[in-house]
Amino acid sequence: MNLADIEGTTPFAVCRLLSDLARLVPAGQSIVEIGVYKGRTLAHLADGARKGHGALVYGVDVFDLPVPPPGRHRVSDIHAREALRSTGLEDRVTIVKASSADAAAAFDGPPVGLLFLDGGHTREAVLADLRSWMRRFARIATVIFDDYDKPGVREAVFDAGLDVEVTEDGRIAITVIDTERNRIMTDNILVLRGRRKSELRKAFRAVQRDQGPGTIVAFTGAGVLPFVDATIRGLLETNSITEPMYDGQGRALVRILGEGEDSRTAEPVDLSGDDVDALVDPDFEPPEPEQPAVTGDRNPPPQAGPGSGVGAWRDYAAAVTGESSEVWAEKSRTQIIEELSARNVPVE
Ligand SMILES: C[S@@+](CC[C@H](N)C(=O)[O-])C[C@H]1O[C@@H](n2cnc3c(N)ncnc32)[C@H](O)[C@@H]1O
Repeated sequence: MNLADIEGTTPFAVCRLLSDLARLVPAGQSIVEIGVYKGRTLAHLADGARKGHGALVYGVDVFDLPVPPPGRHRVSDIHAREALRSTGLEDRVTIVKASSADAAAAFDGPPVGLLFLDGGHTREAVLADLRSWMRRFARIATVIFDDYDKPGVREAVFDAGLDVEVTEDGRIAITVIDTERNRIMTDNILVLRGRRKSELRKAFRAVQRDQGPGTIVAFTGAGVLPFVDATIRGLLETNSITEPMYDGQGRALVRILGEGEDSRTAEPVDLSGDDVDALVDPDFEPPEPEQPAVTGDRNPPPQAGPGSGVGAWRDYAAAVTGESSEVWAEKSRTQIIEELSARNVPVE
């Protein structure tokens, strides 16, 4: 079988473009395709990689959908495997039979230098693909969107704030993403409000627990309500968030940091070119905070003035957590307050 014999939905002119772009991907990076179908585009990507620098190629498709979309027959992975085998490309390609999101979560290949999106074509599906795979990107990654002439794909590219080059026929859009610039690539900014510092901090910790690193959070009232700024300062001190970026409407945007990241060096959220209002998730409700692991019924010492010394806080921490006072002996008052707060122990 030749490449030109492989069945598929993508015209061969596009396949040649894919092959040319795959040629440029450095060795030590991956090329990932979402939406393999019968393997036509995947084989062209693999052929390009072979002629270029030998980047590894991964093709992701759910295949064998339990309920095939109307008008589409089931397509098993056998067709794509056979196409790769008979064109001599099978050793260069890993076929991953999984949803795009699951494959991205489990992906353990080299950083992705080229992502070809031809799976789901709704706005939500394309944004979800971007969100899932951007975590796997090499520092510079090229993303190719098929079917840019369909509204869902165009909306997703627009919403993600990406500048794209579009082929003459309008079908293919290409963008190069510099991941260190860390643009907002989400339609999911979570807005946090609270009436007090402890409330706000609890809401943040619950989001951190449930949504994890990388989530973008907007604190309302920043620069206006002192307890909001104090909360942000506390979270910076504990390396929980990036430096805030202010949107000029009283919101401070931060990204939740992962383990080992440092607030002082992590790239802040980049607001340039993004419409923050359009990205805010209107349905988001802060999750329920965890139940405090508290024993005893003591009141917290004051945070300033008489009785606010570190000794009082160490005693309080030991009493309410039931842990030995040695656990708390090395910690400063700020650290104790922060830690208790993270466990939802009252601190004011
Ligand atoms: C348009 S076809 C791909 C055509 C192929 N690129 C070609 O031209 O040779 C779309 C494929 O995407 C797959 N797909 C759709 N949504 C997906 C998802 N979320 N994860 C993985 N595969 C998906 C479908 O099973 C289908 O085979």
